[in-house]
Amino acid sequence: NSTNIIREHCKELILSDAQIADLMNRLLEDIQKGLRKDTHESATVRCFVTYVQDLPNGTEHGKFLALDLGGTNFRVLIITLGEKHFDMKSKIYAIPQNIMIGTGEQLFDHIAECLANFMKEHSLETERLPLGFTFSFPLTQKGLTKGLLEKWTKGFNCSGCVGEDVVQLLKDALARRNDVQIDVCAILNDTTGTLNVMCLATTQFQLPPIGIIGTGSNACYVEKVENAELFDGDKSKPYVIINTEWGAFGDDGRLDFVRTEYDREIDQYSINPGKQLHEKMISGMYMGELARLILVKFTKQGLLFGGNGSDLLYKRGNFFTKYVSEIESDKRGSYMNCRQVLEELGLNHATDQDCSNVRYICECVSRRAAHLVSAGVATLVNKIAQESVTVGIDGSVYRFHPHFHDLIMEKMADLVTPGIKFDIMLSEDGSGRGAALVAAVACRDR
Ligand code: BG6
Ligand code: GLC
Repeated sequence: NSTNIIREHCKELILSDAQIADLMNRLLEDIQKGLRKDTHESATVRCFVTYVQDLPNGTEHGKFLALDLGGTNFRVLIITLGEKHFDMKSKIYAIPQNIMIGTGEQLFDHIAECLANFMKEHSLETERLPLGFTFSFPLTQKGLTKGLLEKWTKGFNCSGCVGEDVVQLLKDALARRNDVQIDVCAILNDTTGTLNVMCLATTQFQLPPIGIIGTGSNACYVEKVENAELFDGDKSKPYVIINTEWGAFGDDGRLDFVRTEYDREIDQYSINPGKQLHEKMISGMYMGELARLILVKFTKQGLLFGGNGSDLLYKRGNFFTKYVSEIESDKRGSYMNCRQVLEELGLNHATDQDCSNVRYICECVSRRAAHLVSAGVATLVNKIAQESVTVGIDGSVYRFHPHFHDLIMEKMADLVTPGIKFDIMLSEDGSGRGAALVAAVACRDR
């Protein structure tokens, strides 16, 4: 019957233990390639050095601005760090689609305008405040306040930015307006910000690896300075944070052995074909679309909805990643959310059998994503080889999917070197609070 055929077809979405072991070896090799001077340029997992070497200790204080660009929302924040208090005000600003794929000048003018408006709304326009800029894209850093954009990822593709110093682009845009003063103290990745927040949240002394499973997917960890061959900062300090940019794992074909026709189609219709192939199997920007492609295929084969799809289902991008979470949130045996989602897509004729199959397809997509994350995080945990470690994770997929955390925990138990104790914890607002902390530490040391 159709259920059996669907389950048979979905087998290619289930990663075997052998495949996962293979993935972990390949990722570790690629991380090592990224760290080495002679192979960094050609590596897929670039392992960018960050120049963040001093972590917060809780004594940071002052008033900081932060910008958060590259997640679900673009935000401007004002954060007050004090000994016993923490205060944060923020505002989300839209970035219109035409700006996301327009010119760099348009993008940075827009960011500068939002920042200036925010400062005026909070009567800060006469102050010169330090700012931490969370810019969640791959950067070659030349210091804490200088980062050259390597490439755009996720939904962005603005002209004239690749190879440029993003801090300078922001300063130029602010100079064009000339109505507010800021002092950029740090530019950082969302993973780096999250690591800084985690440092304050965990009690035992440890250096937690961090994952982001949101619109995009990435991880950072703390590496010994001597292993970070590209680092040319202060080598008297023992550690440096490495932004792995593991979302690009497989861009040289090394993930092809687990990619499916759906992954190839997602890539083909994306704005960055051939790029971020690991990210495209995992993150929130693509997960719903992966499910949709599978649903469409089975519908057209007559295995779902009596072979009758809908225009809405057949339209690219119409099956949101939040649908996957909603469908998997239904109690076993209930299809309440599932039916609601299907109705939103104009599919009012689903049988219980259809709903059960739709749920199974969503589960296959999210379980595969969670297992890929587990393999990645376990690779880092095993590499760091601390006795006990709490990994911090943030991002919309990790936050809102009902089983993602459990799926990762369960799989990691098989993958982490015996003897290492691990846990995973949600680390909140690395891009806001984390940016302020990094900026504060930078100011503290100046
Ligand atoms: C958040 C951070 O919670 O996680 C963000 O504070 C970051 O700003 C984000 O970019 C990643 O998740 P998403 O789902 O917003 O891309
Ligand atoms: C993309 C970006 C990376 C970021 C991640 C999560 O992979 O390239 O820098 O950390 O998304 O937001």
